Amino acid sequence: MATHQSTVTAALRRDPITVPLGDRSYAIDVCDGRPDLLTDAVARCAPSSILFVTDRNVKRARGAAFERALAPLGVRRTNVTLLPGERRKSLASVSKLWDAALGAGVDRDVLVIAAGGGVVGDLAGFAASTLLRGVRFVQVPTTLLAMVDSSVGGKTGFDHARGKNLIGSFHQPSAVVADLAHLETLPVRELRCGLAEIAKVAVVADAGLLELLERDAAALAAGDRRALAPIVRRAIEAKVRIVAEDEREAGPRALLNLGHTVGHALEVHGAFTRWLHGEAVALGMVAEMEGCAALGLTPPPLVRRVSDLLARLGLPTRLPVAEVSAAWPYVASDKKRDGAALRLPIVRGEGRGVVERVPIEVLRDALGASRGAASP
Ligand code: GLY
Repeated sequence: MATHQSTVTAALRRDPITVPLGDRSYAIDVCDGRPDLLTDAVARCAPSSILFVTDRNVKRARGAAFERALAPLGVRRTNVTLLPGERRKSLASVSKLWDAALGAGVDRDVLVIAAGGGVVGDLAGFAASTLLRGVRFVQVPTTLLAMVDSSVGGKTGFDHARGKNLIGSFHQPSAVVADLAHLETLPVRELRCGLAEIAKVAVVADAGLLELLERDAAALAAGDRRALAPIVRRAIEAKVRIVAEDEREAGPRALLNLGHTVGHALEVHGAFTRWLHGEAVALGMVAEMEGCAALGLTPPPLVRRVSDLLARLGLPTRLPVAEVSAAWPYVASDKKRDGAALRLPIVRGEGRGVVERVPIEVLRDALGASRGAASP
């Protein structure tokens, strides 16, 4: 276990973002090359043992760095390495985590560490939320997308044949350590997926962040970590404000679903191989905003502005109408559905989103209309 002295010294060099949720509050460290912050975050939890969850790709790229951060703690640890990819975001993977923890005889003071992208974070978080009726976990996001979105706010779960993330829970982590050093080995296509989620939160909640993204788009698309650092921090702060207001998505948190209704449908329809999550979200954002513009709910110049930004960030923005049409049945099974309507984020102005009920068929017709077709 790290000494009290080393914990105090490191704490003095931290500048964490706090997620203020009463007795579920926690700190998010955003740093670059600070394995000691992970060591200290785990030490503060004083766990009886650790269930360390990662995937094969992350282990290969970052395993040595995690070993350096965790070995000094001297806490008994069970390591589980999952196969990578959205297709593994299944009950079978959750079972593997339950089996490993129970096989190791963990008690309720075990700490689950989720070291990876959104899939690892959601699976390990769900396993933690159910194991022994709920144990603590720490999120260690290694992709940009997980840093700015999935590791923050306590959504956990896995996919079902009928759609993405249909089974899950809200279970807040005890800490998040977002170390940009992990991005060094992240493929640029994955990095740009994180930029899509940053653009999303900017569009619905932070007009200043939208301007920063436009100013630095070229450096960001190239993965320049100096340009990324302040943007990552600001995107997390914007998300934290929303989560603090609406932890369980009864209202404004649904703003963070911009692009995800059409995006999830595209992912499932493409069998999780055609589009990465952030690419599907970029396509979904443009499609949903175009549909809302056709309904007179979103200013058309803003749709063009967001579409141009996403393209400059290296993301896809245009979809053949036939693909929207083919993916449409999955929109109807989206978990954000409320009867025959969707609770849809509507962008009224830059950084200004509202959530409203839009009948599914009205959106479908508007999407067709916005592309000059009868319907998608
Ligand atoms: N990823 C959207 C949310 O956390 O609410």
